[in-house]
Amino acid sequence: MTDHTRTALVTGASAGIGATFARVLAAEGLDLVLVARRKERLDDLAAELEEQHRVRCEVFSADLSDPSAPAAIMAFVAEKQLHIDVLINNAGLSGMDAFADTEWESLAGEIQVMVTAPTQLAHLVVPGMKERRWGRIINLSSLAAFAPPGESLLYTGIKSYVLNMSQALDMELKPHGVHVTALCPGFTYSEFHDVMGSREAATSLPSLLWQQPEAVVREGWGAVNAGKPVCVPGVVNKVISHAMRPVPYRAQYAMGKTFNPFKH
Ligand SMILES: NC(=O)c1ccc[n+]([C@@H]2O[C@H](COP(=O)([O-])OP(=O)(O)OC[C@H]3O[C@@H](n4cnc5c(N)ncnc54)[C@H](OP(=O)(O)O)[C@@H]3O)[C@@H](O)[C@H]2O)c1
Repeated sequence: MTDHTRTALVTGASAGIGATFARVLAAEGLDLVLVARRKERLDDLAAELEEQHRVRCEVFSADLSDPSAPAAIMAFVAEKQLHIDVLINNAGLSGMDAFADTEWESLAGEIQVMVTAPTQLAHLVVPGMKERRWGRIINLSSLAAFAPPGESLLYTGIKSYVLNMSQALDMELKPHGVHVTALCPGFTYSEFHDVMGSREAATSLPSLLWQQPEAVVREGWGAVNAGKPVCVPGVVNKVISHAMRPVPYRAQYAMGKTFNPFKH
């Protein structure tokens, strides 16, 4: 699909999967609004994409753990006289410290960045999408949403919410031309494990389990356009997600307890 009038808002566009979404969508001719905290990185990416693809690329630096961020982003979009046709709710991170030892501010920040902010951003853009009878929303869930729970991690629960919520929105909005997809990657090359502090454990996992971000993004973008509410990219991840479905909760709990590469 090539459309020069459509605009995509990508959160977490300063690295990894989000930066790759920006590159893939710009190559398709979409204008962009790039959001993350590291403004310099966003400015560099915007300059690269404007030069390479002749698209309009606006940058807004925001910390999505701040509850006022979604409204501030949309005020910026309105000020630039843009409307959002494609929303990529991608920004994310995972802490890995023990729940009881982690400051509430840090846990609340994870929930705000990956639960409240994406839900609110969707709520802010959906009325315009419905009115124009066209919209695409990709919410970054994870293979973790299908996997056994991980000790101390809010992440698996958060990504389960995203998986479920995306399908609920898709059911409501598809009749209005708005497709919503939960994109559920497995291990993907990015800065995620550096931020999480789990690079060493992640590197020890077999390369079979890893995907390049471009493969994830292309499959996710194809899925949302095809109207698929859930996309697990890559054959290995698909096999894992299917294999996990019939496993009883008690067995999943036991598996999560015994196999956790990120446990201290
Ligand atoms: N990599 C994987 O193996 C994997 C697997 C499954 C799902 N995912 C999901 O994919 C998404 C992207 O992750 P990634 O792998 O691309 O990780 P990444 O390379 O670490 O990128 C994370 C992005 O999120 C942004 N971000 C983090 N906290 C933010 C905040 N408070 N406010 C605004 N932006 C924030 C970062 O930007 P700034 O630091 O500049 O703010 C960065 O652009 C996440 O939702 C992640 O959960 C990743």
